[in-house]
Amino acid sequence: MSGMARGAVSLHGKHPFQCGRRNAQPPGNRNIIFYILVHSAAADNQGVGAPQHIPAHINPGLVFLGNAVIQKQRQIQERADRGKARLISKTVEGDLEAFEQFIRQKFTADGTLLSEMLDYALSARGKGIRPMTVLLSAALNAPAGQRSGGLRALLAATLVEMIHVASLIHDDVIDESDMRRGRASVNARWQSRNAVVVGDYILAKNMDLGLKSGQFDLVTHVCGAIATLCEGEILQNDKANRQEMTRASYLDIIYKKTACLIGVSASAGALAVGASREKQALMRKFGESIGMAFQIQDDILDYTRTARTGKPSNNDLREHKVTLPLLTVLESVGEERRRELLARLARCHEEDESVEYLQHIVENEGGMEKAARVMQEYLTRAMSVLSEYEPSEYRDALANLCVYVGERDR
Ligand code: IPE
Ligand code: IPE
Ligand code: MG
Ligand code: MG
Ligand code: MG
Repeated sequence: MSGMARGAVSLHGKHPFQCGRRNAQPPGNRNIIFYILVHSAAADNQGVGAPQHIPAHINPGLVFLGNAVIQKQRQIQERADRGKARLISKTVEGDLEAFEQFIRQKFTADGTLLSEMLDYALSARGKGIRPMTVLLSAALNAPAGQRSGGLRALLAATLVEMIHVASLIHDDVIDESDMRRGRASVNARWQSRNAVVVGDYILAKNMDLGLKSGQFDLVTHVCGAIATLCEGEILQNDKANRQEMTRASYLDIIYKKTACLIGVSASAGALAVGASREKQALMRKFGESIGMAFQIQDDILDYTRTARTGKPSNNDLREHKVTLPLLTVLESVGEERRRELLARLARCHEEDESVEYLQHIVENEGGMEKAARVMQEYLTRAMSVLSEYEPSEYRDALANLCVYVGERDR
């Protein structure tokens, strides 16, 4: 992963390296290797590589050794990641390449600052699960003998990915998050006022691309998800302000902000190749189920110290958001304790100690494990949809996507 951009402005008033384990102190010499490993793992969690400032009292030989171990571990992990990714992508590799080229070609801007921001936003590519879902669904539902979803699938993949990219740029403004994909978020680098506009610009370009293509069925189908996504974000803000999250509202929010677009990605793939309404509905159900699981895993990873998301950890607590790991704890305690925990949550924006406190509570009370069980239920649903299809390499690839969603740590 690339390093954090120098000169990035942290919205929390701290240097980006300090996100996550903010209060950790250097240990005595006995624990130095452990210290280096832990700190590098924490830095890696933020996607920023090994720490840049090694305290002067640490023996350089040990630092070298520690870094070599970390480097090796990272290489092994990266190789395993690539292996798993190929299990999903290998059947549509050509389409994925065409998709990347299409984005480069279509999403350019006039004006120095705007094109710099746009290039930056598009140069760190994410996991790409939405376009992958479109392309695999298109391949799975294509008429016999047709291997690829063709230009319509390519267009649908582009439309969903660009809605997603714009939504992340806006999301980092809303969540006051200074890191995305292992480097400074657009708002941290160019301020929120520019980030909002560049997100809008991407949405506008996307709409333009869709309309000029003349594929109105696809454009209508995909763009409906934008309004739903906005509803989810507003609902989430409202619940955070009122401190009144319930299981039903949580599920409603994650459906709207995340699962709907992934559902639309899967059904758009089927629509792109002219599949029946029944098949489109099946794929939508598949996509919505993995989408629910995907967001629950994202919420778990926000609490996971060893995750490699390239995003600040515990940002949900800092933004007063009750997500499933904490919600399961709140559901299991009495009224007085619940009020106490919510009072702690209300202090998380200003107080690292409250963040650490709730992080521990969630860990100790099994909040992440309980959330993971709910996630697994959604993945089981997604797998059961796949069983409606004949065995094929595309069905296997989508099944591997389900496994990946449940196991991912980035
Ligand atoms: C992040 O999405 C926002 C959520 C819906 C959880 P991704 O985790 O798909 O982000 P990238 O595209 O891989 O960076
Ligand atoms: C998903 O929620 C946001 C969108 C669907 C835009 P998060 O706010 O949890 O996403 P991350 O964790 O910042 O990627
Ligand atoms: Mg966010
Ligand atoms: Mg958010
Ligand atoms: Mg998140």
